[in-house]
Amino acid sequence: MQQQIAACVIVSLASTAMAVPTILNPDLTGASIAGTAPPDWYNWQKTPDTANATGPFNNTPTPWTLSPNGGTFVRTGGTYDFAQSEAFAQTVTGFTPGATYSVEFFYTNLGFEHPTSGEWIGTDGYYDVLVDGTFAGATAALSKPATNLDAISWSPGAVTFVAPAASFDLIFAGRSADPSGLAAYMGIDGISVHEVPAPATGGVFLAMGLASTRRRRR
Ligand SMILES: *[C@@H]1O[C@H](CO)[C@@H](O)[C@H](O)[C@H]1NC(C)=O
Repeated sequence: MQQQIAACVIVSLASTAMAVPTILNPDLTGASIAGTAPPDWYNWQKTPDTANATGPFNNTPTPWTLSPNGGTFVRTGGTYDFAQSEAFAQTVTGFTPGATYSVEFFYTNLGFEHPTSGEWIGTDGYYDVLVDGTFAGATAALSKPATNLDAISWSPGAVTFVAPAASFDLIFAGRSADPSGLAAYMGIDGISVHEVPAPATGGVFLAMGLASTRRRRR
């Protein structure tokens, strides 16, 4: 009995000590509303939208293909000028300060059909990831579909960063790669995060140990 209690204490100590990085609503699921981030997220700059296949702002005859994550996604209008780019964020928790993480997601270039002229606008765009307002990294740029009749396609994106604290603001900003000022209309969905193991010398020793075990077994 006493041993069982002792075991329980050890288990509960271990579970409180082990931080679990937590992102709420990583699927970006919510009602499709212009200018509103999904539940558990907030508009960090300007007014990103929560979008489904038809909108808001899909003026094309082609429904947007949903990401492999499904459901709704976030749509951002981005510019070359960071300060004019739409961004959304969450105050995430459970990180180990100083540890390296990889944040992964799907993203796409939606293009934009002008609601009155019908012009097919938008340019190459990408996502910036910021940690507490500091730039952490950017994805590769994607081009919009060739025409308003072509389906959008989703690509995997990933940015690594070092956690500055247990809790911080994780920010996603849609950007345009066009210095002349054309905007890029991007979508993002299915956000996940995991710790990147430090390149420990311990791993090398473990590998050497395994090799010598194998040799001994022969
Ligand atoms: C999709 O989004 C549009 C625009 O916000 C909305 O009018 C429509 O009801 C949504 N459809 C579904 C199935 O939620």
